[in-house]
Parts: sequence; C-alpha cells; structure tokens
Amino acid sequence: MKRMILSLTAMFMVLALAAQSVYDFKVKDAGGQDVSLADYKGKVLLIVNTATRCGFTPQYKELEAIYEKFHAQGLEILDFPCNQFGQQAPGSIEEIHQFCTANYDIHFPQFDKIEVNGLGEHPLYTFLKSQQGFGGFDVNDQRGKMMDGMLRRSDADYDKKADIKWNFTKFLVDTNGRVVKRYEPTDKMTDIEADIALATNPVLATIMARRSVRKYLDKPVEHEKLQIIAQCGINAPSGMNRQPWIVRVVEDQKLIADVTEVYKKENAEQVTRDKDFKNMFRNAPNIICVCTPAAGGGELDAGLLGENMMLAAQAMGLGTCCLGGPVRFLLSNDKCKFFIERLQIPADYRLNYIIAVGYPDEKPEAKPRDAEKVKFIK
Ligand SMILES: Cc1cc2nc3c(=O)[nH]c(=O)nc-3n(C[C@H](O)[C@H](O)[C@H](O)COP(=O)(O)O)c2cc1C
Repeated sequence: MKRMILSLTAMFMVLALAAQSVYDFKVKDAGGQDVSLADYKGKVLLIVNTATRCGFTPQYKELEAIYEKFHAQGLEILDFPCNQFGQQAPGSIEEIHQFCTANYDIHFPQFDKIEVNGLGEHPLYTFLKSQQGFGGFDVNDQRGKMMDGMLRRSDADYDKKADIKWNFTKFLVDTNGRVVKRYEPTDKMTDIEADIALATNPVLATIMARRSVRKYLDKPVEHEKLQIIAQCGINAPSGMNRQPWIVRVVEDQKLIADVTEVYKKENAEQVTRDKDFKNMFRNAPNIICVCTPAAGGGELDAGLLGENMMLAAQAMGLGTCCLGGPVRFLLSNDKCKFFIERLQIPADYRLNYIIAVGYPDEKPEAKPRDAEKVKFIK
C-alpha cells in the first residue's frame, strides 16, 4: 500500500513538473467542486496557503485590502487553507470560511484545505515550488530572524529545500500563468503590493515582461503591426522635438537572406556551430534600422524611440532584440554595401542600431538587474 502511494505521488510529481503554467492544474473549491485554474487566464494571481490560528493570520486583513485595491485591475487572491504548519488550520473548510468572513470580511476565493508539502502535497504546489524555490528569510527583519531560528533548530538544512516553510507563503503568477515570485510570510506586504501594481497595470506589466528574444517563428510580422510599432517609435520625446533619427523597417525577406549570406561566408564556423541559426539578426523575420546624424548627436533621442518600439511590439505579443553587433559587421564589410544602399539612408545619416522583431519562439528568463544602481535622495 505504502509503495502504491509512493508511486502515485511520484507520478503526480512528474505531471506537475511537466506543466507549463498554473493553468494546467485543477483544485477543489470550498464545496468540493473541481475548478480549473485555466478559468483565471489573463488574471494576476496571488496564491497563498493560510491558517486561522497563526501569528500571521492577521495578514488576512492586509490581503483583503490588497484584493479590494487591485481586484478591478485583474488581481485574484487564491486562498488555500493548510493545516501542515503547527496544526494552525484545524477546522473544517466551512468553519475556516466562517471565521475568515466574520473576522476579516474576506471576499477572495477560499478553496478546499490542501497539503503543500510531503507525500500528500497538491500537484499545484509541487509546480509552484519547482518554479520558485525558497529564497531565504530576511534575517535583518525581526520576524524573519525568528522564523529562521525556529526552523533551523528543527532542521539545520531547512533553507536548502524548496518546501513551503510556514503559513502565509505567497506566489505571484503573471497574466500568462507564469510563477514570477515567491514571498515568505515575513516579507513586507508593501513590497508584494508594489509587485502586484507592476503586474496588474498593463503598461508596467509590458515593461516588466520585455526580454531580448533570439529565437523566432518563421512568420513575418504583419505590415499593420509594424506600422503601429513605427508610430509608437516616432511618438517618443526628442530634444526640442528635433526627431534627429530616421527609421527603416525591413519587410523584404530576400534582403535579409541576401545579407545573411555575406555574414555566413565571413562567419562560417560560428554559424555552423549554431544549430538554431536562421539569419544574422538573431533569427528575426523583420528588422527595424535606426539611423542618427553621421556628424554625431541624436543617440539619446534614438534610444528613446527604440524603447518605445520594443514596448509597442511587446504589447502586441511580439518579441524584440536590440542589436549592435550586426551593425558593426554591416558597416565594416564592403560586401554589405548593397544592403545599406537598399535602406536609402541619406549621406548625412548613419546606421546606429537595429531592432530585431518577430513572433517569439522562446520565453527567456529575466536577466538580473542591479537595484543598487538606484539611490533615492530624500
Ligand atoms: C545598445 C544595445 C546593443 C545590443 N546588442 C546586442 C547584440 O548585438 N546581440 C544580442 O544578442 N543582444 C544585444 N543586445 C541585447 C542585450 O544583450 C540585452 O538587452 C541585455 O542582455 C539585457 O537582457 P534583456 O533585454 O532580456 O533584459 C543589445 C542591447 C543594447 C541596449
């Protein structure tokens, strides 16, 4: 019997780890009915394991406040009571629900009780933990220090495991079902609120979701979308509205293929090594060439133009990559003159950088950013 339970658990774990997003999971509502998390597609989700007799239970009040603030913008809080930490959620789901409504007036969905660790853990939690492991408690915070001490006393290696550590651990899921962040119960609610603001505001979410894409589908971008991208580009601010750039949007696939042939001859070894190589513009079907005055200047304005275009593309489900490398090749190689001529760049302008654009065929992870670069002077 024990072996059967173990092999069933292993099977659920494999299934959970093969999942692409939280939309692949079903949970049970407080009435025992199946609910597919696919019903929450397009919403920002905060998934939290709760308990009614925990020192962190008053967080219900803050969760409800966040819910009221962001629900209209697309936030859902999914509450899973769990009795695995200090047996602090002992009641039936009805009792728990009654307690939470009476004491904290919660309005977000409360699901059936589940286990989040161990043999009986719900596959949703296997998935959540595989996506966002334990990042540690903030030991500079008194409560973080207390939790770290308490857990380390029972397991010196507790921090090496992705297990849920206590009640009120939270996972933030973006509008595409990706688990983007995990918060420990001691993490500041104001930080969580700031992340929710980023995730629920479409402009902020677009900014935060942009990544450089270097694998694209074999599908050129529709002319109408390229037009919108260009329109958003030239809507960027420029010093004294001088608009000191010119832009060339390349839709001619043969031109891209022809210049790539030159690149392939010059970089044969590198191209052969790259099994995904399609063209010299990081494999994108379309490119946008941004030019600035040959005499110098205008680079700042051109940068702003480019970011506008990349965000516009992102907002329409396209991927982009800003490219400097290919420009150096194009400008330094005489055999690429035909390409430059075809762009009809006036003599007093020069190609500055290129934006690759297309339908993404990869979902790159976010590259780290150094928050220390920013100082707030108060
Ligand atoms: C001016 C500039 C030039 C870049 N040149 C290249 C390039 O030649 N090839 C490339 O693959 N990525 C290039 N990138 C993309 C950066 O590598 C990328 O933006 C950076 O690693 C951060 O990753 P993210 O865009 O996914 O956040 C360039 C980016 C900028 C802003």
